[in-house]
Amino acid sequence: MKHLEVQIVLSADGSHTLYRPDIDEFYHSRYGALGESRQVYAQYGLAEAISRYQLQQVQVLELGFGTGLNVLAVVELLQQRPEIQVVYHSLEPFPLPPEVLQQLNYTEQLPVQVAAYFDVIHQVAWETPQPILPNLQLVKSEKSWQQASFAAESFDVIFYDAFAPEKQPELWEPPHFERAFCWLKNGGILTTYCSKSAVIRTMKTVGFHIEKLSGRPFKREVTRATKMIES
Ligand SMILES: C[S@@+](CC[C@H](N)C(=O)[O-])C[C@H]1O[C@@H](n2cnc3c(N)ncnc32)[C@H](O)[C@@H]1O
Repeated sequence: MKHLEVQIVLSADGSHTLYRPDIDEFYHSRYGALGESRQVYAQYGLAEAISRYQLQQVQVLELGFGTGLNVLAVVELLQQRPEIQVVYHSLEPFPLPPEVLQQLNYTEQLPVQVAAYFDVIHQVAWETPQPILPNLQLVKSEKSWQQASFAAESFDVIFYDAFAPEKQPELWEPPHFERAFCWLKNGGILTTYCSKSAVIRTMKTVGFHIEKLSGRPFKREVTRATKMIES
């Protein structure tokens, strides 16, 4: 998609999000973009997997690199956890242009030691693994979720950050959760801000065990799905 039109919007916690007028949709919660990244993805996803399974090495897959805010929330977490090694794969078929990224206020909103990584993560070449921290490697790919291909049981954690089901219904259909289920290791965790009943039903049909977690103040509920295969 060339010349993607996006507008910069201030969310309630003071951090920016983006609005896509063509689909009438935001990139993050309007009630707190940075807060949502920290809570739904860094805490409910990555931090939970680390503590639940005592992981030292974690493979993360993200659907939708976008502004890179979820990566920055992970940088913030990993600066406090130098013993944990993460390889973070992020898919983004519609990269944002530099003139939009330069207007985002994340370097003012994040602690200074995290803000320093805003430019670093955006300058990473596509399709080329790059060390960001001593304990974080980032692999950005311009492939879509549909185009991506990974071996079964590659990931410990998936950040499922697609546009809402009303705006991008295909990504919330069974075949795409079946891919997530296949790519996760047994016990692997998928988190998403979405808690719609129809989506939860689809995830359950695919085999996920579902937890609904508090999303306040960003959303009433968010979802953590675990791949559970009894042996
Ligand atoms: C709700 S936004 C999430 C943004 C991002 N995680 C962030 O922190 O800014 C959805 C993102 O998914 C991307 N996207 C759209 N279709 C996709 C697809 N088929 N596969 C992967 N990513 C896609 C969009 O371009 C957008 O960046």
